[in-house]
Amino acid sequence: MKIAVLKERKEGELRVAATPDIIKKYISLGIQVSVESEAGKGASIPDEAFHNAGATIAYESSSCTHEASIILKVQAPEKDELMLMPEGASLVGMLDPYVQKDAIAAYKVKKLSAFSLELLPRTSRAQSMDVLSSQSNLAGYRAVIDAVATFGKVVPMMMTAAGTVVPAKALILGAGVAGLQAIATAKRLGAVVSAFDVRTVAKEQVESLGAKFIEVPASESGDAAGGYAKEMSDEYKQKQAQLIADTLKKQDLVISTALIPGKPAPVLITEAMVKDMKQGSVIVDLAAASGGNCPLTELDKVVVKHGVTIIGYSNMPSRVAVDASQLYAKNVYNFVTTLLLSKEGAFQVNWEDELVVGTLLTRDGELVHKNFKS
Ligand code: NAI
Repeated sequence: MKIAVLKERKEGELRVAATPDIIKKYISLGIQVSVESEAGKGASIPDEAFHNAGATIAYESSSCTHEASIILKVQAPEKDELMLMPEGASLVGMLDPYVQKDAIAAYKVKKLSAFSLELLPRTSRAQSMDVLSSQSNLAGYRAVIDAVATFGKVVPMMMTAAGTVVPAKALILGAGVAGLQAIATAKRLGAVVSAFDVRTVAKEQVESLGAKFIEVPASESGDAAGGYAKEMSDEYKQKQAQLIADTLKKQDLVISTALIPGKPAPVLITEAMVKDMKQGSVIVDLAAASGGNCPLTELDKVVVKHGVTIIGYSNMPSRVAVDASQLYAKNVYNFVTTLLLSKEGAFQVNWEDELVVGTLLTRDGELVHKNFKS
């Protein structure tokens, strides 16, 4: 049994799908691990550390994947990587299937068992494999750090002989995993934090972190299956827009994280609202890769519009690649050892398991995931 860990090709992707500690665990199961040279460079892990953990360093991509049964990735493979996949192998990564539709066709041709980890059902059994949670948590943290680094004022209140500095006001839109970590981080830095979410259950979580929950006066709740949000009615959207517009005028830092799985991100901050914001305030749009919560956001750019800085990095977890890799590698290890391997390290999959069914896109040349069958 061989596992291959490829170097990520996508621009700006610094994470790696396995770390030396995790590789030791695979090897203790009797598995051979091949790591492509410089796979860990972006996460500050030299080849030597992988070698010392027992992995073979592959200087040619093709020798890395040669005869591998399982290929570990962070992002969906690029075209050149797809050529390297041995027919019938299992591919595990965040395959972004709603966007990377062409890749699905290539998985079929290569007869790959392609597991897309973002699709993992959010059950308690899946928690230790939940890549969205581990990565969104870090994204929420880093978003606040990036906002503060750009902001021309300090965040906490300071009482000095030269006068009092008032604390910065932060608004977090969407109080899921990323949003809750953004609230906690902004609070720790001394900001006055308020937050908003369509899911009613978010209120208690926001308040338990010491932030103010902004409530839309409506009877509708945005709770959908699996802890995710649903799209709201037009009436709700109008009330929400007014409330957000009024609140935004007073903010210094805004972190927007609102997402609806499989759909474009909801527009929460319009251009008119940005025009009304304070000069020098900062928006970090964590929904940038899904179209953005603000139409002025430019993907992977920092722009200034109407005196407001808007940060649109699509891959925030990669900006903390060391920790992001460590947590991602552990999630992947838990997935692989629970669902793809027997206790002795042999390839063994229960194709009926709900976590397998929930993540498996293709198998034996067929598209098998219900969300992607037309
Ligand atoms: P997400 O990344 O899909 O969305 C981010 C947030 O945006 C969500 O809180 C959502 O309600 C909010 N949102 C969507 N539309 C909005 C709108 N129009 N206005 C304002 N906010 C909007 O969600 P995430 O962060 O991945 O998870 C959401 C929830 O799922 C968590 O808070 C948690 O309760 C649950 N969860 C459960 C897990 C488990 O049981 N294993 C693991 C992780 C999360």
